[in-house]
Amino acid sequence: SRTIKLAVIPGDGIGPEVIAEAVKVLDAVTAHDNVTFEKTQFSLGAARFLETGDVLTAEDLAAIAAHDAILLGAVGGVPGDPRLKDANIERGLLLGLRFSLDHYVNLRPSILFPGVPSPLAAPGVIDFVVVREGTEGPYVGNGGAIRQGTPQEVANEVSVNTAFGVERVVRFAFGVAASRPRKQLTLVHKTNVLVFAGSLWQRTVNAVAAEFPEVSVDYLHVDAATIFMVAKPSRFDVVVTDNLFGDILTDLAAAISGGIGLAASGNINPEGRFPSMFEPVHGSAPDIAGKQLADPTAAILSVALLLDHLGLADAAARVSAAVTADIATRTNSHSLETAPRSTAAVGDAIVTLLTSKGL
Ligand code: NAD
Ligand code: IPM
Ligand code: MN
Repeated sequence: SRTIKLAVIPGDGIGPEVIAEAVKVLDAVTAHDNVTFEKTQFSLGAARFLETGDVLTAEDLAAIAAHDAILLGAVGGVPGDPRLKDANIERGLLLGLRFSLDHYVNLRPSILFPGVPSPLAAPGVIDFVVVREGTEGPYVGNGGAIRQGTPQEVANEVSVNTAFGVERVVRFAFGVAASRPRKQLTLVHKTNVLVFAGSLWQRTVNAVAAEFPEVSVDYLHVDAATIFMVAKPSRFDVVVTDNLFGDILTDLAAAISGGIGLAASGNINPEGRFPSMFEPVHGSAPDIAGKQLADPTAAILSVALLLDHLGLADAAARVSAAVTADIATRTNSHSLETAPRSTAAVGDAIVTLLTSKGL
């Protein structure tokens, strides 16, 4: 039997609430498989920082890196909390993990499940995946300011794009496209203005395309991509883009396909040199934390991505099927974002579908 070491980081706010449900589903779906998840809980996040002053220590990182995969809820305190001003939990912890564990692929699928209301009048079929670069771009912290606080202040935040970094994520995206029925890859960038990085991304896509003759390739400027994502999202199959464009586009993608309560993601190190990390796209939602109002579906779908990544495709498909069945029972009169059922009731319903409906 196979043992998988799973690091669990529930985090702050609704993080622990949605992770409790995700773990329930993980345990239920693998109960009869020949696999055991050995879980280690890590208390990291704003609450931990306020207690100890630590965000992510070298010991934390080493301990987490010794696992096969990571499941994360959400981290971050109430925006604007002065006690967290110097901590920068998002950079220190979330980006700390993504960068240190070389999560160069940030995989963010968008699927409009049957029965889910979209804010679009005519959404059509929405079934695409954004492959967002995860370790470069303007996120690297290559910046600085001079004359801060004066009218002469200059603040730079330089986007870093390396041939190595762009090529590996582009090649991964081609692989994803080749594995899907439509085999269509769209590069999203802003090559008309960001000429140096844009040229590198475009040349890289052109070069790697030669290895994937079955994949058809096109290009959109990021501003036009937002038009299509609203006006005709069915045109997208696989999108490859940089860290910041990908961040913004995937919130839009979540909004058109049922909302932030359904959006799942994987931060992947494809070579498996480091554990990959799976998390809902949403944050710690301090406005609804502790009230059992959060929809755990995004966290549960992140478990499906985790199972898929670990080669447990059958279990992953069963989780997706149970989520699809559960969503179909919801009525359109309710917002999907604050569930009419408690967080635990949604998790329990999905577990029941898994265990008693033969899924
Ligand atoms: P947020 O995603 O936490 O919340 C935005 C809105 O969506 C809120 O109204 C919230 O109630 C709602 N919402 C989010 N998830 C939901 C769910 N599962 N079910 C129902 N409603 C849900 O974004 P924010 O308010 O900008 O950020 C709050 C904190 O989270 C900040 O500290 C931010 O930096 C952090 N954050 C963390 C992550 C992460 O850990 N990956 C991601 C984004 C934001
Ligand atoms: C996300 C979040 C993070 C990001 C923040 C919290 C650092 O918005 O996971 O999309 O920008 O990547
Ligand atoms: Mn984001």
